[in-house]
Amino acid sequence: MCGIVGYVGRRSAVDVVIDGLRRLEYRGYDSAGVALVADGEAGGLEVDKRAGKLANLEAALADHPLPESFCGIGHTRWATHGVPSDRNAHPHLSADGRIALIHNGIIENFAQLRAELESDGIEFASDTDTEVAAHLLGREYVMEGNLTEAMTRVCSRLEGAFTLLAVAADDPDTVVGARRNSPLVVGLGRDEYFLASDVAAFIAYTTDAIELGQDQIVTIDRSGVSVRGFDGSPSEGKPFSVDWDITAAEKGGYETFMAKELREQPQAVADTLRGRIDESGQIVLDEVRMSDQDFRDVDKVFIIACGTSYHAGLVTKYAIEHWTRIPCEVELASEFRYRDPVLDRSTLVVAISQSGETMDTLMAVRHAKDQKARVLSISNTVGSTIPRESDAVLYTRAGIEVAVASTKAFLTQLAACYLVGLHLAQVRGIKYADEVSAVLDELVAAPGKIAQVIEGLEPVRQMARDCALNGGSGGGRVLFIGRHVGYPVALEGALKLKELAYLHAEGFAAGELKHGPISLVEEGTPVIAIVPSPRGRSLLHDKIISNIQEVKARGARVIAVCEEGDRITSAHADFVIETPASPTLLAPLLTAVPLQEFAIEFATALGRDIDQPRNLAKSVTVE
Ligand code: AGP
Repeated sequence: MCGIVGYVGRRSAVDVVIDGLRRLEYRGYDSAGVALVADGEAGGLEVDKRAGKLANLEAALADHPLPESFCGIGHTRWATHGVPSDRNAHPHLSADGRIALIHNGIIENFAQLRAELESDGIEFASDTDTEVAAHLLGREYVMEGNLTEAMTRVCSRLEGAFTLLAVAADDPDTVVGARRNSPLVVGLGRDEYFLASDVAAFIAYTTDAIELGQDQIVTIDRSGVSVRGFDGSPSEGKPFSVDWDITAAEKGGYETFMAKELREQPQAVADTLRGRIDESGQIVLDEVRMSDQDFRDVDKVFIIACGTSYHAGLVTKYAIEHWTRIPCEVELASEFRYRDPVLDRSTLVVAISQSGETMDTLMAVRHAKDQKARVLSISNTVGSTIPRESDAVLYTRAGIEVAVASTKAFLTQLAACYLVGLHLAQVRGIKYADEVSAVLDELVAAPGKIAQVIEGLEPVRQMARDCALNGGSGGGRVLFIGRHVGYPVALEGALKLKELAYLHAEGFAAGELKHGPISLVEEGTPVIAIVPSPRGRSLLHDKIISNIQEVKARGARVIAVCEEGDRITSAHADFVIETPASPTLLAPLLTAVPLQEFAIEFATALGRDIDQPRNLAKSVTVE
């Protein structure tokens, strides 16, 4: 939700800031802007900001280059308060034009502050919540004469979630940042320093970074970095080193980041499993700071997450309950704390978040901790807020995921969740050792099978294009149905298509269709069925075949994702996507992949922006 970059050093600030914004554009792309402090005695602020994608700002800067500067800030926006427009784009200026400020988050008491400032005669130039912070900072700066002091005073007046960066016209050597609830990291170069929402912004220049804590103010100038608390007391961040390089943040010859990330899934899943199963078949979760006894004490599991991560949680419920016999509930993080869930010390709350910054999930984690539950987070982002505030963490190792629509994060979340479920079963002695090892062997074999699915995607691409271009038939919608773990996969397939193609797509529990949604089916409506394995005379398989017949009888075009060699399904479906044989609980690692490709190709045929779908942002840091 909004990407922010700040720079002080020896390079052209505009180049560094624009480069950083390009890598952060996945966080929001409604508008973009920069503010530079002109070099030299006179200083002065140079600001340019444009509605739309970063390319609009780049084009404007190419037409009207800004003067040389070595100190600046930049912002790419996901709009909350005020429509996407030039005037609402960040940076925002103080009334005297001497301070430029950018913001990620929501200032919840902005209305009251705005009324106060307006009654003092300040005229607002935008509809944003952010502008109040720019005016307050301008006022404090006049009184304090020091940007860090002024920022400290402003933060004491703000409520809500905010990362702020600011520069002053008469100080071409300083950027000041503040962080509450929204991410901010510091990059440490040689005689140059960076501030950004995410390390991707500065990874081309340095892999040394500092993670800032809650309620901290950071000042960078050419001589270094200093950190203090909102109360003004000296403080420090936590140093870390980024273990991936810039090539991970490039498209590497693919048309889109999403196509690249989809194809990285075998490696990402293998990396997530690596080193976590020892030679004797025991699961070793090093980063998890919970003892075996803690896991034995668990009598209930709650999984909280949003979007795709929530779908990973839904799959995990089936696995945890089957393997451990511990009751497991899955809840949308945005709903969790508002319904007063029953939690105590023996409840394990598993928070799943790729970014580790999703505000809904973070707030649910805080609620769970307040109720004394233990929180284990599963995240892809080392040092992000949710893992930091959890009792324990298991990192997925998907590497950076740039496309807004999640692919490899989902599969690695599944892999990590399976490990947690099997670990629980192991330490509680619920399953025989050979039963756990049999599942682990299958898990370790999954990356090879995912690669096989990816190799066979060409027919899916053609079929998806065909569906997209014949979108006029079938009511202009696509339905997804599944049972058991196929149900969350159906939800995920529908989410991918909605996100990318802007089309009505919906996932249903296949058995539920006849209770209402079947009325959506008309002649030609594509219905994608996730079919479980037919092996062992599966009851589930029989049931979904009946559901396929029900929709076919009403004119649906049935596309079935089924196990290779499943002749019964091929006899009933109009199009079949085969996946390698897999144990039922692990099948989502395979069946989700063709649905990701289906969405990419369908949306491409409609001319959509695959990596940056409209209205979305990758990291949702507002509630
Ligand atoms: C999925 O394609 C989306 N990017 C979105 O649903 C995402 O999964 C959700 O916002 C949760 O994000 P998180 O995993 O970073 O918490």
